Amino acid sequence: MDTNFPIDNSVLNRRQFLNFLAGTAFAATAGLTLYPMIKFFIPSDETGNSGAILARDRLGNPIPASQLLANPPGSRALIAGLAGEPTYLTVTEANTLDEIGIVDNCTHLGCTFPWNNIDQQFQCPCHGSRFAADGSVVRGPADRPLKLVHVRVEGEAIWISPWTELDPRTGQQPWWS
Ligand code: FES
Repeated sequence: MDTNFPIDNSVLNRRQFLNFLAGTAFAATAGLTLYPMIKFFIPSDETGNSGAILARDRLGNPIPASQLLANPPGSRALIAGLAGEPTYLTVTEANTLDEIGIVDNCTHLGCTFPWNNIDQQFQCPCHGSRFAADGSVVRGPADRPLKLVHVRVEGEAIWISPWTELDPRTGQQPWWS
């Protein structure tokens, strides 16, 4: 006795084809939606133009611009910048990130320092140097302004790149380049 049932291949093929179409459409939609997000959070050694790198947190994850811009104007956030240097980024009155970042390395002996919001200064706890909001020296023993970097925001990406042109505070070639 023949126990084989006839199989309607054309029905199966049509179902498979429709499933395939539905699966492909779903995958394409999901891919288009998730790609920018996934791309942003996957660590990459790629650098942008002019040696730019993405601003990262202490764990090495890129920091989305919206995370910093959720803070009020005048806020300062420390990020890992060029060569991992701690760098202050500032939220402006226009609710953007200031295009100038300030490297958190005291020019006296290299201590890191906090921002004092009351005095509106960077104040180094090691030997008492003080710096204005733009990083220029207010009080020694430090005798050089704080190092600057460029900050550029593209969507959620925050790009940090070296400052090699004239120092706007001194009008001279920067001491670090
Ligand atoms: Fe900052 Fe000495 S390291 S004042």
